Amino acid sequence: MPSPLILALTQAGYAIVPDFLNPTELADLAFESDTLRENGSFHSAGMGLAHQLDRRERQDEIHWLEPNALSVPQAALWARLELLRQEVDASLFLGLWSLEGHYSFYAPGGFYHRHRDSFRNDSARTLSIVIYLNGPWLLEDGGVLRLFPKGEPVDVIPTGGTLVCFLSNELEHEVLPSIRVRKSFAGWFSRR
Ligand code: OGA
Ligand code: MN
Repeated sequence: MPSPLILALTQAGYAIVPDFLNPTELADLAFESDTLRENGSFHSAGMGLAHQLDRRERQDEIHWLEPNALSVPQAALWARLELLRQEVDASLFLGLWSLEGHYSFYAPGGFYHRHRDSFRNDSARTLSIVIYLNGPWLLEDGGVLRLFPKGEPVDVIPTGGTLVCFLSNELEHEVLPSIRVRKSFAGWFSRR
């Protein structure tokens, strides 16, 4: 019997896992992200392979994680995501291989227009993962992740600890303007 995550990915094209992070994992990653931002270690995000800046398309700031030099909380996150990779690959045979990822920071007013995560000229990105590093979140705080599966759009509230995953070259999605500071980790498993 496939797990709920596998069923959701195959049937709907996306899966949402509330409380994927436990409170300690969430607090440690959120603290690290806050500290890196305060230290000036974030930069405005770009679009596409050349990472050219396009402030009309997205207004988030990011900090790439260094897979060869993970901090303790990052290594714990990588271990959790490795288990997820094994679970997905055992059923869906996507050939998931390497993981890249960054912290994201949306200042109030920040958004990310509708897009797919795989680049037009490089479709190696296969499974997208977003994990929210906020505290509790209300609909009126804005910043929902809007997914565009077949049928009706689905809005995901970026409550801290929630994980969303979907197939990178299929599912279009957008981040609606956030009223509050909005923090997350975004990662991608690529095929070899
Ligand atoms: C991305 C992205 C969604 C989110 O970084 O590519 O779509 O909810 N993020 O932060
Ligand atoms: Mn995206």
